[in-house]
Amino acid sequence: MTATVIGNTPVRKCETLSALYQTNIFIKEEFHNPGMSAKDRPALFMIQEAIASGKIRPGGTFVEASSGNTGLGITLIAKQLGYRSKIFVSKSCSEEKIANLRCAGAEIEICENSNGLHDFYSTQFRAQSYAATQDNAYFTNQYYNTQNIRAHYKGTGPELWQQTEGKITHFIAGVGTGGTISGAGRYLKERNTAIKIWGVEPNGSVLQQFLQDRTLPESVRPYDPIEGIGRNFVPGSFDADAVDEIFQVDGESTKKIAREYRNQTGNLTGFSSAAVLCCLEKYADKMNFKEDDVVVLFFPDHGSRYVSKLYAQEFAAMVPSQKTL
Ligand SMILES: Cc1ncc(COP(=O)(O)O)c(C=O)c1O
Repeated sequence: MTATVIGNTPVRKCETLSALYQTNIFIKEEFHNPGMSAKDRPALFMIQEAIASGKIRPGGTFVEASSGNTGLGITLIAKQLGYRSKIFVSKSCSEEKIANLRCAGAEIEICENSNGLHDFYSTQFRAQSYAATQDNAYFTNQYYNTQNIRAHYKGTGPELWQQTEGKITHFIAGVGTGGTISGAGRYLKERNTAIKIWGVEPNGSVLQQFLQDRTLPESVRPYDPIEGIGRNFVPGSFDADAVDEIFQVDGESTKKIAREYRNQTGNLTGFSSAAVLCCLEKYADKMNFKEDDVVVLFFPDHGSRYVSKLYAQEFAAMVPSQKTL
């Protein structure tokens, strides 16, 4: 998997959403990447930089803490280049993502949470500790690796600018490590400071508060589970200067809207993509789009990764179980 096949994903107009919100709504479809997610981009940049700067020797092991997608990108690229991968995922990771990781050849460890480097039971702590105690292992550490933002600054941002012929007025993306919104946002702001860069996170996540007044809640609290987005710490790869506003949505409404969107368009959206749709529905009045605006929604991955979490319940109820046959 090389730089030539990662990125350059399509931007497509969604007529259903454009009609609904009386503006021009486009979707950046990141599931066309080889690992079927946007996270192939930082995976490639982090791996290339580590190899080029001698942080890992041939045949070594790339280690990452991931909600699944970065891990898959790392695993596929590492394998192609002759390296191994060890991926630490949280127990909330969808069964489809874990199956994909296993099929791709990753060694996986399932952890209690992804609460950051200070938490002994987190994916990040376990990944760092593993890499520090093994020979020839390198922790790519997407939460603090400058290559994460750089991948989106060099790829996603310029693509959005070119694909909309410089007409983009709004970019809306879910925020997890912050790499996407920071890199693409920074690039777009450099082209035109008026472009609105809006993030989406689950209720209870801390980045909205951090963006507003650079403070954090006094105690660690849970946030709605929406895979890939939401944090209870501020990742180093979140650049608050690149972002105008962060909106919060709830997990149940997000699941509901994923099914509604499937019914309307026939498309299965990923969980965090549905969160962006939920954000539109919830805050459309405040967003005040104009008829000639060009709004790009970022869809980092595909609904096929979340069949069990978002869509399967309906047909489980309709199809008789094996026991009753
Ligand atoms: C499905 C999904 N959505 C959103 C994100 C958040 O992207 P970023 O980490 O660039 O903020 C991720 C990150 O892993 C993801 O896997």
